[in-house]
Amino acid sequence: MMSDSVKIKTIGVMTSGGDAPGMNPFIRAVVRRASVDNIRVLGVEGGYEGLIHGRFKEMGIREVGGILQRGGTILQTARSQEFKEAAGQREAVRQINNAGMDALVVAGGDGSLAGAQKLVQKGIPVVGVPASIDNDIYGTDMCIGVDTALNTIVDAIDKLRDTASSHNRAFLVETMGRESGYLAVQAGIVTGAELVLIPEIHTPPKEVAVAIEEAYRRGKTHAIVVVAEGYKPHTAELGAMIDAMDIGFTTRVTILGHVQRGGKPTAFDRLIATRFGVKAVEFLLEGKSNIMAGLVGREIQPIPIDEVISNKKVLSKDYIDMARILAR
Ligand code: ADP
Ligand code: F6P
Repeated sequence: MMSDSVKIKTIGVMTSGGDAPGMNPFIRAVVRRASVDNIRVLGVEGGYEGLIHGRFKEMGIREVGGILQRGGTILQTARSQEFKEAAGQREAVRQINNAGMDALVVAGGDGSLAGAQKLVQKGIPVVGVPASIDNDIYGTDMCIGVDTALNTIVDAIDKLRDTASSHNRAFLVETMGRESGYLAVQAGIVTGAELVLIPEIHTPPKEVAVAIEEAYRRGKTHAIVVVAEGYKPHTAELGAMIDAMDIGFTTRVTILGHVQRGGKPTAFDRLIATRFGVKAVEFLLEGKSNIMAGLVGREIQPIPIDEVISNKKVLSKDYIDMARILAR
């Protein structure tokens, strides 16, 4: 975890993988914290794709003005097939060395951190920062972007409930999250959804139909089912199956999609993104690298990148139980 105490003069900063609201406050924090110690910051444009192709630009404190409240990432991001290959990684290392970068700070999801581990294995000092709306990264309680995405979902479900109620309908609302049910469960709890379907727990379609029908019989004017995108069968297929069964309500399906990744970051996301950015630079100044900055409780801690990659984050059973208990 501790690298040799090389004096850090230049660092690269990069956003990678799926964008997450809060990546801009993160970039701003890295640049401004680095400037305090006269560290030069090179922004890598377009994630690992840009790294391979040497798309670097100087980032001064003025370049990061006015971005705190903006969604997306001013450095852009990408999913790079080329970087997954050894040849791409070699080229990235060559570009890092050519540009004189002493270390790299990478914000992204679990894939991006797996990429960071590859650079670490090739001798590049890296600090990773968890940024993914999925909140599926081991070693951190929270990732940049989760809170904003959750607020977007809640806003959408509140609106869907209005129309569902007016028409006596059941809505299946699909949330993102890849193989994680985190967003779906949290959204289910705070919107009072009748049911939450997640990949971590097998719920057969017949059980879904029974739960919706029960809500109908209890006199509810609507039923909201939050479906994580990783649940099988897929939401559209499930919708068709449910609609064909006699459940009282008619059914509609809403896939929230990429709207969950956009929008201005919430105060919470601005704050953790800023804390992650500042701390990432400070870790490097303390000679710590090959780590991810993880939020553990209220503190940001250095978590070895190998530990992050070799473990799987498990969704807390407490949340799953809570969603079930409160849906009455
Ligand atoms: P996220 O970071 O949001 O999870 P991806 O899974 O698409 O998004 O990962 C972002 C990028 O990180 C990929 O496009 C790829 O370039 C790189 N990456 C992902 N997994 C690996 C891996 N196992 N080895 C090397 N690079 C990887
Ligand atoms: O990892 C973030 C995420 O939004 C997932 O929730 C989703 O499965 C995926 O990215 C979508 O990827 P893309 O933007 O490439 O369609």
